[in-house]
Amino acid sequence: MTKIKTIGVLTSGGDSPGMNAAIRAVTRSAIYNGFHVKGIYRGYEGLIHDEVKRFTTEDVSNIIQTGGTILRTARSKEFPTPAGHRKAYETLVKEHIDALVVIGGNGSLSGAAQFTEDYDIPCIGLPGTIDNDLYGTDMTIGYDTTLNTITQCVDKIRDTANSHERIFFVEVMGRDAGFLAQNSAIASGAEAAIIPEDSTDTDQLMTFMQRGIRKSKRSCIVIVSENPNGHGAMYYADRVMKEYPGYEVRVSILGHLQRGGSPSARDRILASRVGVGAIDALMEGQRNVMVGIKNDEVVYVPLKSAAGKRKPIDKSLIKVLDELSI
Ligand code: F6P
Repeated sequence: MTKIKTIGVLTSGGDSPGMNAAIRAVTRSAIYNGFHVKGIYRGYEGLIHDEVKRFTTEDVSNIIQTGGTILRTARSKEFPTPAGHRKAYETLVKEHIDALVVIGGNGSLSGAAQFTEDYDIPCIGLPGTIDNDLYGTDMTIGYDTTLNTITQCVDKIRDTANSHERIFFVEVMGRDAGFLAQNSAIASGAEAAIIPEDSTDTDQLMTFMQRGIRKSKRSCIVIVSENPNGHGAMYYADRVMKEYPGYEVRVSILGHLQRGGSPSARDRILASRVGVGAIDALMEGQRNVMVGIKNDEVVYVPLKSAAGKRKPIDKSLIKVLDELSI
């Protein structure tokens, strides 16, 4: 195995608040420990097309508090192909990059796992996604900030919902995971959450409507997880209008505002810890793991498991919401 001298860092897939804090942590920890650092722009696309810049500590000054990613990001179609892998490897050789730190979600980390199997390059993953759907870490970078953003939005929606005595279906992101929906519903005092993890054999809307909306409640908010394999907020709103006439119904799809904004302290700390953990992992000879935090301890999770295994939602959260939304 070649001795690592230069570490490349990239962000890939959907951006998430705290990615900059992670870039900063990787860069500073690497330099502190005697490595060179190269920032790779636009994720795997930039790796394929050699969009690389040597980073100093100044390049990551003043970014811990900013949302988005200074390295920019992309969802590369070419990278997973054999030609994409080869071009990416050629860039690494040309740039003398001996190891990669990939900050991203599911697709980005499974891409790294495949790449490190095909080519002899140590890859360390950091969990960067608002969806919180990576196995083996309690939280992903960006999840906490997004949860807070959604909660603030729902607080505002509650004001108008109360004034007009309406039912609101609020659709939130999460890809096919319900962490954001379930926990933002608890945090905002919503009446229900409709999440993919709970929808296999029950009609969640019917269960909720049959339970009845307490007459003294002036409004009702249902958080609906976007679900590429299921139904979104519009579907449930349409159904209520057809099946339960008499209610005034509105829909609010929060969209990409959920991904922006300054990261919470919690996300900045998580990003800083796992960023330092990535450099520790490389110094310990790890080559194919995601660095996460479980029960407040830094852990290494094989990249394949982190991206491949389904992270279960804690079913007791469903009970908490049910009991408190009466
Ligand atoms: O994975 C992060 C995420 O924001 C998902 O919650 C969402 O489904 C998806 O990315 C949206 O992707 P895009 O920004 O490419 O539309």
